[in-house]
Amino acid sequence: MIPTIFFIFTLLSLSHASSLVVDFCVADYTAPSGPTGYSCKSPKDVTVDDFVYHGLNTSGKTNIFNTSVAFGFDTQFPGLNGLGITIGRLDFGVGGVIPLHTHPRASQLIVVIEGTILAGFVSTDNVAYIKTLHKYDLMVFPQGLLHFQINVGDSNALAFVSLGSANPGIQTLDFALFQSNISTSIITATTLLDADTVEKLKDVFGGSDLKFVVDHESVRNMQY
Ligand SMILES: *[C@@H]1O[C@H](CO)[C@@H](O)[C@H](O)[C@H]1NC(C)=O
Ligand SMILES: *[C@@H]1O[C@H](CO)[C@@H](O)[C@H](O)[C@H]1NC(C)=O
Ligand SMILES: *[C@@H]1O[C@H](CO)[C@@H](O)[C@H](O)[C@H]1NC(C)=O
Repeated sequence: MIPTIFFIFTLLSLSHASSLVVDFCVADYTAPSGPTGYSCKSPKDVTVDDFVYHGLNTSGKTNIFNTSVAFGFDTQFPGLNGLGITIGRLDFGVGGVIPLHTHPRASQLIVVIEGTILAGFVSTDNVAYIKTLHKYDLMVFPQGLLHFQINVGDSNALAFVSLGSANPGIQTLDFALFQSNISTSIITATTLLDADTVEKLKDVFGGSDLKFVVDHESVRNMQY
């Protein structure tokens, strides 16, 4: 069952056409890279290990939202260079959240492997599309749109994502606002949040302590 899902999932992602005129262009990390990716490693130096990635065999580092994310981008997985495809692993603790973020260069598919995940995105017309996903359900998030995932089940959840770029980019709304060096006065002016709230959130996102507390009751009551 799982291999079938991955097969479909990969085919869908590959439909984002690559412009290569060679079979592959394995990243040469020692040579300069440009806007279309890395230079190609000489085919005589390419081995099967360039096309194999072990980086998703464990979860990533748990973040403040009680989730962890591990990616295979072209920066870690050299065989992806130029192929227009990326994979990622999302692990959710109970109540875990992947906060609103965008991938400026790619659409994304998610497939739920374990647990129950509430997922959604907001269109440029400011319409929200939100659905509860169960085991083996898929959802697509169109390129560039803000989207999120929340574990609304009673146990841990696991999902994989595939994106149509070897390096789709990630911009997380909370981090852009409260972890960047944009000043509090600019944030208050551009969001209408009050300065105390901005300072409090800058403290939460700037610090290393797990200060975020999931309201499990309200998370589980989200019905879509
Ligand atoms: C993950 O892969 C790495 C590299 O091959 C290996 O050293 C490690 O033991 C693997 N971990 C698990 C949990 O399989
Ligand atoms: C994070 O997830 C773990 C594992 O599911 C859970 O035990 C814990 O209560 C969660 N932490 C918070 C702050 O909700
Ligand atoms: C933010 O920090 C970077 C260096 O880390 C600096 O180049 C940039 O000018 C800073 N921006 C502001 C608005 O202070």
